[in-house]
Amino acid sequence: MTKKVVLAYSGGLDTSVAIEWIKDKTGAEVVAVAADVGQGGEDMNVIKQRALDCGAVAAEVLDLREEFANEYCAPALKANALYMDRYPLVSSLSRPIISKYLVEAAKKHDAYMVGHGCTGKGNDQVRFEVSIAALDPDLKVFAPVRDSGMTRDKAIIFAGEKNLPIDVNKKNPYSIDQNVWGRAIETGFLEDIWNEPIEDIYTYTKNPAEKREADEVLITFKKGLPTHIDGQAVSMLQAIEIMNKRAGDQGIGRIDMVEDRLVGIKSREVYEAPGAMALITAHQELENVCLERELSRFKRGVEQRWGELVYDGLWFSPLRKALDVFIEETQKHVSGDIRMRLHAGKAVVTGRKSTESLYRYDLATYDSEDTYDQSWAKGFIEIFGMTAKIAADRDRKSK
Ligand code: ARG
Repeated sequence: MTKKVVLAYSGGLDTSVAIEWIKDKTGAEVVAVAADVGQGGEDMNVIKQRALDCGAVAAEVLDLREEFANEYCAPALKANALYMDRYPLVSSLSRPIISKYLVEAAKKHDAYMVGHGCTGKGNDQVRFEVSIAALDPDLKVFAPVRDSGMTRDKAIIFAGEKNLPIDVNKKNPYSIDQNVWGRAIETGFLEDIWNEPIEDIYTYTKNPAEKREADEVLITFKKGLPTHIDGQAVSMLQAIEIMNKRAGDQGIGRIDMVEDRLVGIKSREVYEAPGAMALITAHQELENVCLERELSRFKRGVEQRWGELVYDGLWFSPLRKALDVFIEETQKHVSGDIRMRLHAGKAVVTGRKSTESLYRYDLATYDSEDTYDQSWAKGFIEIFGMTAKIAADRDRKSK
């Protein structure tokens, strides 16, 4: 029986050429697996047919949108996950779920190896391979672009030689990865970090500078997740999709940053994640209302670590699982309504309401209903500040 390789297939030039390339280099048959994680664009059946036309013995398209939203985006929202305080982990979140289904397909088709189209310079190779190794340590991995010199030029020549039915002129000048949580745009003229992104590169967001009416939205959360938008019940996937549209129309969620990759390289990244950024903004503010101070302060450190772990490809790791148990515990009381104004590239919270609120009007107010005894504060400050005061006294004396 001929050996089999399962290939993570996107439908683009590189992975289309990779089908014949892998057959050529390994003598194996190739099973193409394409995952729908809400990237939109081409019909998944067109992608499936292309894989078969390019020489795959079998092709599978998997609709992973609900699972991606519920099992990957939802924990990221609860964690307010932003790598380097800015990047909502778009690609980092999709790699583990795709890996899970590559491993499943490998079992089903009795494949000995998994292939992917990543280069040797990025984070995605790490995320795929660490995830695959965690799920099935016996599977081998082959990355034609990285491991056998399948450069863009060679791929185009090879496609011609093999008469592959793909339009090699359709090459996009950027490297793009997108899913329902957002979109990443790299390379091309963006590699000069002085160059400003041009309007053309964006598809999830409209230009925030254009004049338009503001949009007011009411998001209802239950235990840290959105359940209603403007009173209409929504699934996690629907919440992201609706907010992608509404926040995207207001130019919200554009991010232009220089990022620290795991492999040690700094890279210029442009992202657009309107739904993710609007939901995180709303969720953070509801937490400000519902989380006790010490829990809230501690959670911020956990959030950062969670983001770094997931960014670094360690989704399937004991620490991520343990941190998720902590984060889940923190979400028990994160329920209520957030009103936001979406306008001119910003999602601004304008109101909060929660039956689990820790905000106490009677303590906060300067009006007559005040129940806070200000005389308590004097003694509190004496004792609280004692350690700093004693040290400062010593330092003055020893000068
Ligand atoms: N730098 C981002 C990350 O590591 C985006 C990667 C996008 N991938 C791509 N093939 N363009 O998560």
